[in-house]
Amino acid sequence: MDTDALPGQRALNDVTSPTILVVDDERAVRVALDVNLSKAGYTVSLADTGERAIEILHGQPVDVVLTDFMMPGINGMELLTEIHQRWPGTQVIMMTGHGTVERAVEAMKLGAHDFIIKPVAKAELLAILERARREQALRQQVAHLTEAATERFGFENVIGSTPEMQSVYDHVAAVAKSDAYVLLTGPTGTGKELIGHAIHYRSNRREGPFLQINCGALPAGLLESELFGHEKGAFTGAVRQHRGKFEQADGGTLMLDEVGEMPLETQVKLLRILESGKFQRVGGSSTIEVDVRVVAATNRNLLEEVRHGRFREDLFYRLNVFQISLPPLRERTDDIPLLVDHFIQKYATKHGKPTTTASPQAMNKLSQHSWPGNVRELEHTVERAVILSNTDTISDFQLPESVHPSPPTDTHASLLPEEGMSIADALREHERAMVVAALRAEKGVQARAARRLGVSRANLNYRIQKLGIVIKEIVYD
Ligand SMILES: Nc1ncnc2c1ncn2[C@@H]1O[C@H](COP(=O)(O)OP(=O)(O)OP(=O)(O)O)[C@@H](O)[C@H]1O
Ligand SMILES: [Mg+2]
Repeated sequence: MDTDALPGQRALNDVTSPTILVVDDERAVRVALDVNLSKAGYTVSLADTGERAIEILHGQPVDVVLTDFMMPGINGMELLTEIHQRWPGTQVIMMTGHGTVERAVEAMKLGAHDFIIKPVAKAELLAILERARREQALRQQVAHLTEAATERFGFENVIGSTPEMQSVYDHVAAVAKSDAYVLLTGPTGTGKELIGHAIHYRSNRREGPFLQINCGALPAGLLESELFGHEKGAFTGAVRQHRGKFEQADGGTLMLDEVGEMPLETQVKLLRILESGKFQRVGGSSTIEVDVRVVAATNRNLLEEVRHGRFREDLFYRLNVFQISLPPLRERTDDIPLLVDHFIQKYATKHGKPTTTASPQAMNKLSQHSWPGNVRELEHTVERAVILSNTDTISDFQLPESVHPSPPTDTHASLLPEEGMSIADALREHERAMVVAALRAEKGVQARAARRLGVSRANLNYRIQKLGIVIKEIVYD
């Protein structure tokens, strides 16, 4: 123990006596923690408010902040955010009362290292602090390496081995090296952004920039200046020249996210640049030429948008050179266990948790949920469960209410499959009926039938094969 160390002597403190800042408005809590932590060999500072804590952090390096949630003035969550931004090397552990688990989960997502339920048990606290210290050291060592290696190629992070995902990989492989524009479609949370990255990193442009813009987040004027840039004085507030995404992405890839939300007037300008590779900054007169590959993404049905006059048909055909459609998670439930394992590993590492697996009951529930938010929803659910779990296993009670299937009641009796029929059989019957109906309605034209069913053509074809449907028979009988 190194009790003589001055606050500034950081190098020594790292090894021998980590510094802890306890933030709580209750004096009794501060005193108790001060006594216990000092006895355990920590150098302890105390603050009775979030404001005071920030003052202390400005004055001396702190390894771990142990803070209450509810405090007058800056509360624990705000303190956490502030520390996370300004002192990323400092770990934050939240102290929370019973019944506020959701808040603790939120805090973990915002970057808290861990949380502990009040009244604080000494042994548990010391174990958490020890884990925090070890992890901090480890993290410093490996941070650069792992991030550079795994994030860069992106594709390793794409999980899924069902035929549906295999077909996505095949499409990516086929198109990545060409310079063709790609349109990524699929419902929210299915991995369009992930695949957009993968296309860039597997292309010959990988050394060039990869930029992204959300076309739905900005009003037309701002969006245009973000896309094409502007000259100084082009409009009120344009105090300096600004290079737009198209210029910044020169030699690389630009991902136009939520392209279906783009205002019509911006669509006209986009089409022009896609046709000529040339454009002018807003308020500018000189012509700029760039070499940019565009990957567009949307969770809308763009043809439907075209039909309603909300999306330009010519732009649609320009962007839709090569379409890759990401299947909703409920159409590839066999991937769920793989995804669950992947996210358990990811978040156990991130949050320093011992979790390695999900119990059979939990996995069952996760596999049966319909996942309207797709992989994103699954990912959040697993992260939450990992945060709540203190053993190596996620249990089904760590899953939110929404994932628990509602018990059957009498009013649902009509939903039950016929006697002797499994749910899989019943679903297949239903699926078959829908596919047949769509094919009949569209006189056997698969592309149109696929659109009606909200699936890609490839996906419809896969279903036709799987269900053994013979189009000739059903259309002309
Ligand atoms: N196949 C996958 N394997 C691993 N993680 C995935 C996969 N698909 C999606 N994810 C994860 O799910 C989250 C949502 O994915 P992403 O942002 O790519 O979805 P999106 O299709 O762009 O959704 P939105 O339409 O809402 O923008 C991300 O955290 C992503 O890493
Ligand atoms: Mg997205």
